[in-house]
Amino acid sequence: MDQIIVKGGGELNGVIPIAGAKNAALTLMPATLLTEEPLTLTNAPRLSDIKTMTELLGSLGAEVAAMQGGKVLALSSHNIHNHTADYDIVRKMRASILVLGPMLARDGHAVVSLPGGCAIGARPVDLHLKAFEAMGAELDLRDGYVHAKAPGGRLKGAVINFDFASVGATENALLAATLAKGTTEIRNAAREPEIVDLAQCLRKMGAQIEGEGTSVITVQGVDRLGGATHPVVTDRIELGTYMLAPLVCGGTVECLGGTIDLVGAFCEKLDAAGASVEQTETGLKVSRKNGRIQAVDVTTEPFPGFPTDLQAQMMALLCTAEGTSTLEEKIFENRFMHAPELIRMGAKIDVHGGHATVTGVDKLKGAPVMATDLRASVSLILAGLAAEGETVVSRVYHLDRGYEHVEDKLSAVGASIERVKES
Ligand code: UD1
Repeated sequence: MDQIIVKGGGELNGVIPIAGAKNAALTLMPATLLTEEPLTLTNAPRLSDIKTMTELLGSLGAEVAAMQGGKVLALSSHNIHNHTADYDIVRKMRASILVLGPMLARDGHAVVSLPGGCAIGARPVDLHLKAFEAMGAELDLRDGYVHAKAPGGRLKGAVINFDFASVGATENALLAATLAKGTTEIRNAAREPEIVDLAQCLRKMGAQIEGEGTSVITVQGVDRLGGATHPVVTDRIELGTYMLAPLVCGGTVECLGGTIDLVGAFCEKLDAAGASVEQTETGLKVSRKNGRIQAVDVTTEPFPGFPTDLQAQMMALLCTAEGTSTLEEKIFENRFMHAPELIRMGAKIDVHGGHATVTGVDKLKGAPVMATDLRASVSLILAGLAAEGETVVSRVYHLDRGYEHVEDKLSAVGASIERVKES
């Protein structure tokens, strides 16, 4: 297993290119199942989660060719011969549930393993299933699998009213609604940029969609969809993560491809903490305004609020801020697993339920730490960049799910970071 070794203390200066969004690619890839024509995704990120989705689509009969080192994905689903998404793949990645909507919409039946729990919380899929039921699907949950059927072979348009603006459930419902008979209205839809990106791609494929990016998405089902070529939107979570790098250790970093609209609420908090964020023609340039970062209070919310996927990284910044910050996690029930690891590095953090209080210390100290999930792992790297001495992060397979070439990107701006095989 790989480890990442970070030696902290130095300033970071230069540019970091930001990749296409993992979470957008993971919902765009299953869109191939809606058409027999080719779907080409450009600006794809090179991540292990993309390989997992490639494996899953391949198991169903889709062809996924990675070109240009993985930056371009050519997908084709002219020969879907299997309608069962197996537990062995689904358990690796919760986003696997996103093949259910498209398969059901295209062929009227699908069997998908339930994803099960994951490290950051229970994460059920009840909202996904309620959406399909509203569209007329008959669902049977047995042996850990969802067996779904559309009577007459086709889903029906419906009003879907989500209790919570779930990202995945909105995506699954949107994918399915494109081929349903009649009109679907998704109420209390999630508004994340990845959903807007999905709607834009589906529209290129011939779908009739209105309202993406708002709380009500309306889809007029069509009989068939065609192929398309679509660039994956910039990864706002990778963007936010690297925007924090010059704030934890000083210097100026420009994140190429970044735009404020992707990270608005996050930028407001950075501004309050004493960061300067400048939109340039090519990206977002970030540095400290002057002196030490100040404490701020953060609450995670669905988009356009502060993203839960940047909470761990923000905590790493606040560990050395002046004053006491509070972080409230409102999306996932168990998402402070990075806190005990940061405490090992000298941070002063109290976690009580969904709240954490962080009292800034002058310096963190390098230590051996363990990544517990994707975003937690990169927060430990950020903390390592700020710390005195050496930090060794183990279990970095979590990191590889969502960050491509993290050590190359950070070394290019002056960080002392390397990947080694665990001894
Ligand atoms: C997506 C992102 C993930 C991000 C999350 C919230 C992908 C691949 N992943 O995950 O990185 O952290 O959005 O921004 O895009 N819930 C239910 N029932 C459901 C579905 C969700 O109770 O059927 C709950 C979850 O347990 C969680 C909350 O709703 O507490 C948010 O989940 P959701 O918005 O669905 O996140 P994901 O789509 O899983």
